[in-house]
Amino acid sequence: MSVLDKETVERSTSSDVDAHHPHGVAGVSQESLPRHLRRVLSLDDFETAARRHLPRPIFGYVSGAAETNASLHDNRAVFSELGFVPRILTDVSKRSQATTLFGHGYAAPFGVAPRGISALVAYRGDLVLARAAAQANIPMVMSGSSLIRLEDVAKVAPGSWFQAYLPGEPPRIAALVDRVARAGYGTLVLTVDTAVLANRENNIRSGFSTPLRPNLRLAWDGITHPRWSLGTFGRTLLRYGMPHFENSYAERGAPIVARNVTRDFGMRDHLNWEHLAQIRRQWKGRLIVKGIMHQQDARIARESGADGIIVSNHGGRQLDGTVSPLRVLPKIVAEAGDIPVMMDSGIRRGSDVLKALALGARFVFVGRPLLYAAAVGGEAGVLHAIDILSTEINRNMGLLGINTLNDMRPELLVRLKDV
Ligand SMILES: Cc1cc2nc3c(=O)[nH]c(=O)nc-3n(C[C@H](O)[C@H](O)[C@H](O)COP(=O)(O)O)c2cc1C
Repeated sequence: MSVLDKETVERSTSSDVDAHHPHGVAGVSQESLPRHLRRVLSLDDFETAARRHLPRPIFGYVSGAAETNASLHDNRAVFSELGFVPRILTDVSKRSQATTLFGHGYAAPFGVAPRGISALVAYRGDLVLARAAAQANIPMVMSGSSLIRLEDVAKVAPGSWFQAYLPGEPPRIAALVDRVARAGYGTLVLTVDTAVLANRENNIRSGFSTPLRPNLRLAWDGITHPRWSLGTFGRTLLRYGMPHFENSYAERGAPIVARNVTRDFGMRDHLNWEHLAQIRRQWKGRLIVKGIMHQQDARIARESGADGIIVSNHGGRQLDGTVSPLRVLPKIVAEAGDIPVMMDSGIRRGSDVLKALALGARFVFVGRPLLYAAAVGGEAGVLHAIDILSTEINRNMGLLGINTLNDMRPELLVRLKDV
């Protein structure tokens, strides 16, 4: 049985008027922005800045997908197949993007997707993202492949969600779930689209590997990117030692340079619905399944007691050729019944968020851009990114003629090839 009822996903229709908010929901003023962030006008600008800031293997790890990048490209292409049909003269002076999800009132309809190894990309990356998300009042999903202890994130941002990659053995699953509960997390996200490791040949081409193998090229990349080498990697080594995978299991995992680190990803090919049922029996909090693409799996997840679903192709990083989540979203919404359907993969603009909501998503998550923002600008960078996206949503709501996100109906969209 789901612990959720319909009320928990209602959009706020209150008059918390952000229509004339001069900034986005993070409330950062242009004047207080560090100078290098003032030139960042869109989420894509963070990618350009991160490409310069990060060593090639690290940038390649974040930006890359799998094999031919077919899914990565489809994640963007799908949004441009939809056009808006705005309404006029509707008095949009009371627009609000506040969204209630699982009983919590969030400032915006988007959150921070889980990203592994964030602390190698940005100094103390997970903490930076969690603090910024908490300040802006949007959810942040802490990754199970992270290099910062999940307890530390719970301490600085108690409302964060935790994402687990399940070890394929029931006793280890039980111990991990127990640890997450003890740390105080209320929401557990299970990522289920990684039964086996993806073919990330782009990582090999750009020189990234786990275990991280120090070599001449990596050293040269370090020398040519001193801000990252000193400000992120060197500072981490000096203060905290070699980063370890902290949250794959109940116990600490291997350091990122350890030869046995790949073993930490083992046994996931054993996972099946019985493991989900096991967790549902043990976990008293909210349970969300991330990585669903087929409508029948949405139905089984709901019947197995999931409280929510994240439709995702993992940003194109798993099975190359998987369609964009947006293409299957309406069918999944139809099968999911009363549990909220969220989505990620390819969200870069406020207009993308609004298109996803029109097709039935209750909420969306953003992956790569927020990690780039953390890398180039720390907490201020992430807050700026949140402001950019929420300002775009607010502006587009006004231009579409709507005051609440409930008004974002499919009738405001057309498929361009049908026109
Ligand atoms: C560098 C990187 C690391 C990721 N690590 C994880 C992870 O640890 N757990 C997970 O569930 N998804 C992970 N993802 C997938 C994201 O949660 C999300 O599904 C994806 O980034 C969304 O696509 P976008 O980057 O186009 O927004 C990762 C994605 C990236 C780019």
